[in-house]
Amino acid sequence: MTHEALDDRHGVIWLDGEFVPWSDARLHVLTHGLHYGGGVFEGERVYDGHIFKLAEHTRRLHESARELGFRIPFSCTDLDEATLELVRRQGIGNGYVRPVAWRGSEQISVSSAGTSVHVAIATWEWPHVFSASAKEHGIRLSTSRWRRPAPDTAPVRAKAASLYNICTLARDAADEAGFDDALLLDYRGYVAEATGANLFLVAGDELHTPTADCFLAGITRQTVLDLARHLGIPVVERHILPGELSTFDECFLTGTAYEVQPVRAIDDHEFQVGKTTTVLREAYTRLVHSPAPERGRASA
Ligand SMILES: Cc1ncc(COP(=O)(O)O)c(C=O)c1O
Repeated sequence: MTHEALDDRHGVIWLDGEFVPWSDARLHVLTHGLHYGGGVFEGERVYDGHIFKLAEHTRRLHESARELGFRIPFSCTDLDEATLELVRRQGIGNGYVRPVAWRGSEQISVSSAGTSVHVAIATWEWPHVFSASAKEHGIRLSTSRWRRPAPDTAPVRAKAASLYNICTLARDAADEAGFDDALLLDYRGYVAEATGANLFLVAGDELHTPTADCFLAGITRQTVLDLARHLGIPVVERHILPGELSTFDECFLTGTAYEVQPVRAIDDHEFQVGKTTTVLREAYTRLVHSPAPERGRASA
């Protein structure tokens, strides 16, 4: 599959406090973050000119950097304002926002002492990850041989670029085997998440989701848990073994990019796109399109 290059587009990218022409937003090959994985990022979505949960994403970017031992040199308020202005300047109605922060090029030792911290924000139109048919009828996952690491092995609470090595290996293997995405187990063998989204399962009228003790507890996951509780759907957060998957009727993924994405199969086990998935997907769609004070408005 060929993709349009991301480094040569029109418009501007916010880089270290300035709006620079898109193709000038570059960094040096001896960047510490590139060699040793010292980078954190966010993925945000724009709906009807609003950025959904902007403040939560910006806060998580700061917290992810702290987990990796560096401090972002712009306040959350500064980054929120820069993001809103960028989305306005780029004229994004429905799209994606990618903030990223990384350690600079002051030294090539593994030690990060003395490295500067840089931040960039880019945005582009990007309506959906999966096709309309996959969105409606569900995607197929294969269980990966790669696992989410233990909290004393990696900074599992951070949205850290280095952790996405595991996701890319898992996703590429799933793609090659003809699946849409991979399911990763954790270091203990419990069901964890997909490569860019959290996992939910439905048994009867109960919603189950893995305890997020070694992977990202996504902002969408929390939103869906809140919606479920509000709708009176019983929620169970617990450790789930892969052998239990066949006892569930429905399955879906949640994430900023994936939204509420039905899953129709994990390996050989098939699920239906049932009532609970549909109700929660509709509630989520209504929420992201309804103006809320905390979301911030990008259009003047
Ligand atoms: C590995 C992983 N897990 C979970 C999520 C879901 O997080 P959120 O709902 O905050 O987008 C993401 C998406 O960013 C992710 O990349």
